[in-house]
Amino acid sequence: MEIRIENNLQPKAKPDPTSLGFGQIFTDHMFVMDYEEGRGWFDPRIVPYGAVPLDPSVMVLHYGQATFEGLKAYKTAAGHIQLFRPYSNMERMNISNDRLCIPRLDVDFAVDAIKQLVEIDQDWIPSAEGTSMYIRPFVFACDPYLGVRPSYKYYFMVIMSPVGAYYPEGINPVKIYVEEEYVRAVKGGLGFTKTPGNYAASIKAQEVAHEKGYTQVLWLDGIEKKYIEEVGTMNVFFKIDGVVITPALEGSILAGITRDSTIKLLKHWGVPVEERRLSIQEVYDAHAQGKLDEAFGTGTAAVISPIGELNYGGQIISINDGQIGPISAKIYDTITGIQNGTADDIFNWIVRVK
Ligand code: COI
Repeated sequence: MEIRIENNLQPKAKPDPTSLGFGQIFTDHMFVMDYEEGRGWFDPRIVPYGAVPLDPSVMVLHYGQATFEGLKAYKTAAGHIQLFRPYSNMERMNISNDRLCIPRLDVDFAVDAIKQLVEIDQDWIPSAEGTSMYIRPFVFACDPYLGVRPSYKYYFMVIMSPVGAYYPEGINPVKIYVEEEYVRAVKGGLGFTKTPGNYAASIKAQEVAHEKGYTQVLWLDGIEKKYIEEVGTMNVFFKIDGVVITPALEGSILAGITRDSTIKLLKHWGVPVEERRLSIQEVYDAHAQGKLDEAFGTGTAAVISPIGELNYGGQIISINDGQIGPISAKIYDTITGIQNGTADDIFNWIVRVK
């Protein structure tokens, strides 16, 4: 399928690269493609960024049938433009789509569409340290219908936003509140998918945590409220007695691409790493024994975010004296180095746009 291109004749002024924040500014173009039952995906196009007219009855607004992804484009010092593991994102989107009864996308075609969009808006990619262009592919049900069934019509769209750090803390450690009342997901549900409902389910707890002075919540499993799951926008890792432990993928957490990259790097460096069930009590016991060396979150938006403090039922512990630890720093430097073209891409994660 050929992608039709309609150039934006009224390009916007580029933002100040030193105060980007996250996800507030959008580039001049967006990608759109339609789907209709019996016809499949059709009319791929890159058009000026703008509002999408929607019938008030479109199914996504009522039943939330939608999925999304997040990846980034980087500009290297040598002038290349590159993406980090985009095929993994689009493969994961198909896993989410299967669970949400949304038609699959052709992964190669979707990555090609992203590359063309990035190339068209390449002047929007910031190059200052800690900045990149966040890319948000998403699919949503747009059949005008109020019955509950899979939609017969969808839009696949991609929008882009030049970004700085996701958390105001940047690479400085964040304070995390261990959530004991609300749960995010259970096995058999949607926890492993990237669907808006998972984020809607998290907002209340996040608000309560913010009021208490915490950046984010750490979710526990939905049944026993004992085992660590993830932070709403990140997977989590704990280094205990020299071993880096992260919750196993058992259906209720997202299979993060930065999580997978972190595990591959740790193994490559010979650092022992375990994917298994990890209870919050084990983390607190390790801290009491002086064996909790480091904790950090991983995610596309947040990259690596060290965890400096945990609050579990009022018991507050400080991790690594609230400082970024050596493993967190090494992973951050290596992943951002590969992304920015200053470190060797030993796993062939980079896909060049130009
Ligand atoms: C990402 O890290 O790309 C995410 O999707 C988190 C997001 C909800 C900001």
